[in-house]
Amino acid sequence: MPFNPEKFVSQAIADIKAQVGEGKAVIAVSGGVDSTVTAVLMGRALGENCVAVFVDTGYMRKNEPETIRGVAKKAGINLRFIDAKAEFYSALEGVTDPERKRKVIGERFIRIFEKVAREEKAKFLGQGTLAPDWIESGSGLRATIKSHHNVGGLPKDMDLKLVEPVRELYKDEVRQVGKALGLPAEVYGRQPFPGPGLAIRIMGEATPEKAEIIREACAIVEEEVEKAAREGRMELPWQYFAVILPVKSVGVLGDARAYGCTVAVRAVESVDCMTAKASRIPPEVLERVADRITRQLKHCVNRVVYDVTSKPPATIEWE
Ligand code: XMP
Repeated sequence: MPFNPEKFVSQAIADIKAQVGEGKAVIAVSGGVDSTVTAVLMGRALGENCVAVFVDTGYMRKNEPETIRGVAKKAGINLRFIDAKAEFYSALEGVTDPERKRKVIGERFIRIFEKVAREEKAKFLGQGTLAPDWIESGSGLRATIKSHHNVGGLPKDMDLKLVEPVRELYKDEVRQVGKALGLPAEVYGRQPFPGPGLAIRIMGEATPEKAEIIREACAIVEEEVEKAAREGRMELPWQYFAVILPVKSVGVLGDARAYGCTVAVRAVESVDCMTAKASRIPPEVLERVADRITRQLKHCVNRVVYDVTSKPPATIEWE
């Protein structure tokens, strides 16, 4: 039977009401499709009893705080904004292992929400977990590929009950639900963004300086790819972003020798994140991306490469 988003919406709202009752819930929003759809579903089910919380971890996309305010206003979401940049930067100091990063970030997130929940007297925590998040995080017979932070990073002593209305859905289905909820196309059509944010697009230690570099590099990739798609020079890929590698290489800056960082551009086609193929981006678009990254970030980045690997054997993100 084909997926029916309208039916899903009424069922999800009824289920949330039944689970939370007269209680109060907090929901984490990141500006992404999954958390926004979850927040709107919970807002519709619970009204004033649902408080959406945006935590600025310092690893958010460029202009995300402004974007999220606009989106929340349009969708009628009751939003609370928390600047936790310093807290996350210090928690990730010296952390280089990808799984450890996810755990540290997940744990910080939950601690912040527990505090907000106490203040709001909430007993429930909404999350936009999707099916691939928990499938890939391993359970029972499945192997852990990576613990997506809204699953693997949850501390064992967490005292909030989880509300995960979209946990059985895949990305294409959650987009249909977003459309059925009347969200704008730029919200429900938005490319996926990982819960731990730009921290997992920095190979190795996610320092505040590298966060600034990758934020800019990702924004350049988005701008150029979206422009090329608008102009009909390519299809919009499923996902498109940059990662910063721990590899330095020799280059030239002006007349002098430079020794700078490498940025890898990744763009993939996928249906449900479980498998993916590298997108065939026109060479002139890639050239323009490389040119802008190395000009705008000329004091730190002097080389840009394109990742042509499928999933499997690679994953979409590099960490
Ligand atoms: P991978 O890298 O596992 O990514 O092929 C599949 C999809 O999931 C996103 N992703 C994450 N999402 N928490 C999330 O909420 C995470 O820890 C995480 N890691 C990867 C990734 O961007 C892609 O869309």
